[in-house]
Amino acid sequence: MSQPRTSEHDIHPLFLQRWSPRAFTGEAIDEATLLRFFEAARWAPSGYNAQPWRFLYARRDTPEWQPVFAALSEYNQGWATRASALVVILSRKVWTPPGKTEPQAITTHSFDAGAAWANLALQVTLSGWHAHGIGGFDQDALRDALNVPQDYAIEAVAAIGKQGDKAQLPEALQAREYPNQRHPLRQLVSQGRFTFETE
Ligand SMILES: Cc1cc2nc3c(=O)[nH]c(=O)nc-3n(C[C@H](O)[C@H](O)[C@H](O)COP(=O)(O)O)c2cc1C
Repeated sequence: MSQPRTSEHDIHPLFLQRWSPRAFTGEAIDEATLLRFFEAARWAPSGYNAQPWRFLYARRDTPEWQPVFAALSEYNQGWATRASALVVILSRKVWTPPGKTEPQAITTHSFDAGAAWANLALQVTLSGWHAHGIGGFDQDALRDALNVPQDYAIEAVAAIGKQGDKAQLPEALQAREYPNQRHPLRQLVSQGRFTFETE
């Protein structure tokens, strides 16, 4: 059942407003709008300020769309077909720090790319669009199709679009087309020692 999102503590409403619909309108998105989203991502924090995130974008009705779309799982293709853009989120696993000559591993590359994605998703919301993360895709197919080198991790894909009519979705998805909830804060935060229930 759909319940309005509420916070246990006072936070900016943006955090509650961001959510991930699957029904999109399929309308075109221009590059300037997309670049705004990437600009927000650019300002995320990262270990050593290495900025390991990279984004590959594909707007619908452009030649770049099909290789990304084709790599999505059938389930995700079912709804992402009406997104306006698909964004592949990569992270560089190694870097050469200033003053060094040999590349070394970036232990935080995925964490950092996650922070950049969160910035992006919040800017998308602020701009009146929606972003929906996608982990269900064929890694190898996407790596091959987009020529992604092995020292970059393919973290996720994101669908971006304007929210559309949920009637277009399969029935099972229509029933889930509303903002979901979160665990209570007490299950997520503990002062000091680990006191969470383990599953
Ligand atoms: C990295 C990542 C991968 C995800 N993969 C999928 C996916 O493959 N298919 C899907 O329908 N939703 C996917 N989601 C969406 C999540 O289910 C959704 O973000 C979560 O339920 C929280 O809902 P909200 O984003 O509306 O707050 C993914 C989200 C993230 C961040």
